[in-house]
Amino acid sequence: MEFIATILFLFAGVCFIMGLKMLSKSETARKGNMVSAAGMTTAAIGTLVWIIAKHGGHIEATTIIWIVVGMIAGTVVGIPAAKLVKMTAMPEMVALFNGFGGIASLLVGWSELQRYWVEHAQIAKVTDAATEVMGALAEPITEAAKEAAQMPAASAISIFLAVLIGGVTFTGSVVAFLKLSERMKSAPMLYPGQQVVNALLLVVLLACGTWIAIDPTAIIPLYLAIVLSFVLGVACVIPIGGGDMPVVISLLNSYSGLAACAAGFAVNNVLLIITGALVGASGIILTRIMCIAMNRSLGNVLFSGFGAADTGGGATGDGEKREAKVLTPDKAYFMLEAAQKVIFVPGYGMAVAQAQHAVKELANLMEANGTEVQFVVHPVAGRMPGHMNVLLAEADVPYEALAELDDVNPTMELVDVAIVLGANDVVNPLALEEGNPISGMPIAEVQRAKTVFTMKRSLASGYAGIANPLFYLDNNYMVLGDAKKTLQALIDEFKSDD
Ligand code: TAP
Repeated sequence: MEFIATILFLFAGVCFIMGLKMLSKSETARKGNMVSAAGMTTAAIGTLVWIIAKHGGHIEATTIIWIVVGMIAGTVVGIPAAKLVKMTAMPEMVALFNGFGGIASLLVGWSELQRYWVEHAQIAKVTDAATEVMGALAEPITEAAKEAAQMPAASAISIFLAVLIGGVTFTGSVVAFLKLSERMKSAPMLYPGQQVVNALLLVVLLACGTWIAIDPTAIIPLYLAIVLSFVLGVACVIPIGGGDMPVVISLLNSYSGLAACAAGFAVNNVLLIITGALVGASGIILTRIMCIAMNRSLGNVLFSGFGAADTGGGATGDGEKREAKVLTPDKAYFMLEAAQKVIFVPGYGMAVAQAQHAVKELANLMEANGTEVQFVVHPVAGRMPGHMNVLLAEADVPYEALAELDDVNPTMELVDVAIVLGANDVVNPLALEEGNPISGMPIAEVQRAKTVFTMKRSLASGYAGIANPLFYLDNNYMVLGDAKKTLQALIDEFKSDD
């Protein structure tokens, strides 16, 4: 049975790898999801076979009841949560899921050590009884029994890592969830000596790990490690600002994979090792991609307290107050109607307004009018990786209409109208200057287009909390209001002209 379980696990692992590969292209992404789901189903069946094999071919009714209760509870919570969550709230949902993954690994590690304690106590009881009856004669047998039951240091270390990384992932993810859902202040919480305190926590935790590796029967280091890993998770995430939460979530996702991998080694489960390694590796790759897209190091994201200073809208960044030109949709229409080349730069506001279908309809009308239209997708626009791609794909914007920054920036002067659709930081020209929080971040350089329409509700700053001088440039017009309503007004203008 164990052999069958291993084959099922390997099949599931292959499905996950193929699914991931397919998810990297929009044409095969749907199929990739199905292949991964098939892998997950196989994994669930394989796990049941594995549990039966572990129980020597038969399984107690209570064990089955616990498994069924777990499956029902997961389904009852998971399906409505996935159906009800708004697209804009997806990152916080992912944060929570990571947290659950982390706490699951912690519980696996904890229960494995608890199981060892019970076994160890039973063996001690039997060997004590044998010594009592047989005296010194029993010594070779009791010593051999104790030695055979001894937990190898590698297993003890795996258990400790599952507890440590799982605990940090759990509370870190909960803080990320609270910050993203604005149930907690998203600004970085900083205090003097913060990094020293975090380093000390880690040192004490490593000491607990060493203690567990030397004596797996010791109770104190396990409970201390659980509590301190929870504290470390909170301590590591509170100094990070809300703007950097997507990077943190991706990193915590990677941690949850590593915790699962460690739990896999602890209970000797091939599937947990494979999936944990896949999640750990893909999470860290995604974290790196995001850091490169923002031109920041991971160290800077984790330790710089980015976003602590907040400058509201209205300022130009140089302390001077200027007036921004405001245009109504009916006036904007005349310029769009005459434009040869138009680009849309969508951002978080498009997701909030759910304006993806409206922008596609407007693009169709403009194309029918002879205008060349492109969508410029910044890698960190929105609040999660691929946020804009997912929304535009939902509205059936063809892949060929999407452009990357490097495709468009060199010829920006040829663009008649650049429409900034609920984006802010990803078009902020301050990124091209030194000495501000977004310095060096690649941007869509719309300020060089002939005309810019910035569609948002106000002059407020973006997620990085810094003013945007684009709003006050001579070639920029603010078309204020909810992005969807503004687009609808433009659509109506195009239609009424037919
Ligand atoms: P932001 O800079 O956050 O700007 C979005 C703008 O949308 C806001 O200024 C807001 O202005 C506007 N808005 C909100 N609701 C709107 C609505 N209903 N209609 C029209 N406009 C609306 O977004 P961005 O330009 O997409 O940049 C993303 C930010 O997140 C960057 O700072 C990036 O570094 C950070 N970040 C993203 C990621 C990923 S993976 N995406 C990862 C790490 C960090 P008003 O309130 O005035 O309307």
